Amino acid sequence: MLLENKVAVIYGAGGPIGGAVARAFAREGATVCLAGRTKAKLDKVAGEIRSNGGLTDTAVVDVLDERAVDAYVDAVVEQAGHIDISFNLISYGDVQEPLTEISVEDFLQPITNAMRTQFLTTRAAARHMVKRGSGVILAFGGNGPQTLPGLGGFKVALDAIEGLRRQWACELGRHGIRVVTLKTGGITETLPDPFPGRDEIIAGIQQAALLNWTATLADVGNVAAFVASDQARTMTATEVNISCGAMMD
Ligand SMILES: NC(=O)c1ccc[n+]([C@@H]2O[C@H](COP(=O)([O-])OP(=O)(O)OC[C@H]3O[C@@H](n4cnc5c(N)ncnc54)[C@H](OP(=O)(O)O)[C@@H]3O)[C@@H](O)[C@H]2O)c1
Repeated sequence: MLLENKVAVIYGAGGPIGGAVARAFAREGATVCLAGRTKAKLDKVAGEIRSNGGLTDTAVVDVLDERAVDAYVDAVVEQAGHIDISFNLISYGDVQEPLTEISVEDFLQPITNAMRTQFLTTRAAARHMVKRGSGVILAFGGNGPQTLPGLGGFKVALDAIEGLRRQWACELGRHGIRVVTLKTGGITETLPDPFPGRDEIIAGIQQAALLNWTATLADVGNVAAFVASDQARTMTATEVNISCGAMMD
């Protein structure tokens, strides 16, 4: 197994992507600590993991709350002994509207949420990882020149996460801590049904891919497990592109 004896904290684990990552990490032997806002959603993912023999724990944590994040990670380390992987997969409360129509508050919301939570979760983990000289910080989204009209501050937030990822990688590399983003072209299974424009969005994701398929939630979990593992020990300060060619590097 790729992640035996590793302890992973996954924020937003009640969401589709966080849940998929949690299942994959548990399958690969990690103890997965599931954090999020709604207890019932976390319990559902934890129940599935336990029924497959995995090790997991859940906690309701507001990831925007500095003290709550610090206290949670300290408690994980006190109980499990260490933290090896931190992956923030919370939603950013983005409002997707054209820039000429969106309010400044709605525009800034995903940017400030993404920056605040990515900073807080990484800092809380890094303070412990530095002492052990190892660890992996993961992010999800990815940057680049490609974008679409009407996204409000969402794509700007993803680009900002990449700026922060570079800064963390630069400061944490000498402590043996890797920082990597999974770059996506969109995961069609995460779109609720019904959802306004769902079919058009799915068709757009499929058409943009160079391959005849697009990434599934299972693909996200598989790649994340590899990148989080020691098999990927050479990878830091980079994106891993899982867009099936849609996001050309
Ligand atoms: N899906 C895609 O194709 C795609 C593409 C690019 C980037 N992303 C990004 O990837 C991330 C995960 O996507 P997803 O589709 O799994 O998102 P999601 O369905 O919106 O789930 C995210 C989870 O985060 C939790 N959350 C939100 N704010 C929180 C807070 N302050 N504290 C603790 N938990 C909080 C939510 O809890 P509640 O359920 O209680 O609200 C939810 O369970 C998001 O940031 C998304 O923007 C996704």
